[in-house]
Amino acid sequence: MDQDIKRIALKAAQEGGAILREYFGRVKSVEHKGEIDLVTEADHESEARIVSIIRAAYPAHRILAEETGDSGTVSSFKWIIDPLDGTTNYAHGYPCFCISIAVEHDGQIRYGVIYDPLREELFTAEKGCGAFLNGHPIKVSTTQALNNSLLCTGFPYNVRQDMDSNLSNFRSFLMKSQAIRRDGSAALDLCYTAAGRFDGFWEQQLRPWDVAAGSLIVSEAGGSVSTYRGKPFSIYDTEIVASNGIIHEQMLAVLRG
Ligand code: IPD
Ligand code: CA
Ligand code: CA
Repeated sequence: MDQDIKRIALKAAQEGGAILREYFGRVKSVEHKGEIDLVTEADHESEARIVSIIRAAYPAHRILAEETGDSGTVSSFKWIIDPLDGTTNYAHGYPCFCISIAVEHDGQIRYGVIYDPLREELFTAEKGCGAFLNGHPIKVSTTQALNNSLLCTGFPYNVRQDMDSNLSNFRSFLMKSQAIRRDGSAALDLCYTAAGRFDGFWEQQLRPWDVAAGSLIVSEAGGSVSTYRGKPFSIYDTEIVASNGIIHEQMLAVLRG
């Protein structure tokens, strides 16, 4: 991947992150996109800054960003952006959120950056070159058994309409793992799996911007990423299982019921 693309991605993540830091705890405008799906001025401002940095550097690249959608011309490069992953946390002052930016080239995710501006943790990965936290290589955990695993998941915004969406899986994993966390930022959940803080993560009804950078970071950290049925994961799939690889089959068996 071109050094300049990486530099622009990092600059965009850091400038977006500065905006999130600035508004954190001072959010004034909270709108509802759905019954429980929120958007704040920080989501909009962060996205505007990130998109303007990318546009200025690469006017011909395509951009898929959560709040403004698909824009740009037909190009072999596509930037996939979540300007604030963890908006519900953010709106409540719960310090767990990040920015996620991925670069897709010829249909493959080549570079990913996820930035937690409060902890100043910058997770990066380039296809074939490993995964890093603040420049230091990271690896998935070596936990062997689901029984000893710390897992993570999330629930979609339509949970009130689709009651069972993840509850039966949650119940099954609760009985078979050491513990489960529900932190509210799918992108950070993936980074934490990559860094060995979680042994596995599963979630459904996610969107490309939630998982584009994080799924690359997990695979580059030596983990496995697939659909619930064990097929190779595409960011356009809506369900994901990511793990240290060792417990992957054990997780798939639980999801198969
Ligand atoms: C959400 C977070 C959350 C997940 C939701 C996502 P947002 O993204 O990643 O963890 O459970 O499904 O939509 O709305 O905060 O960018
Ligand atoms: Ca998101
Ligand atoms: Ca978001």
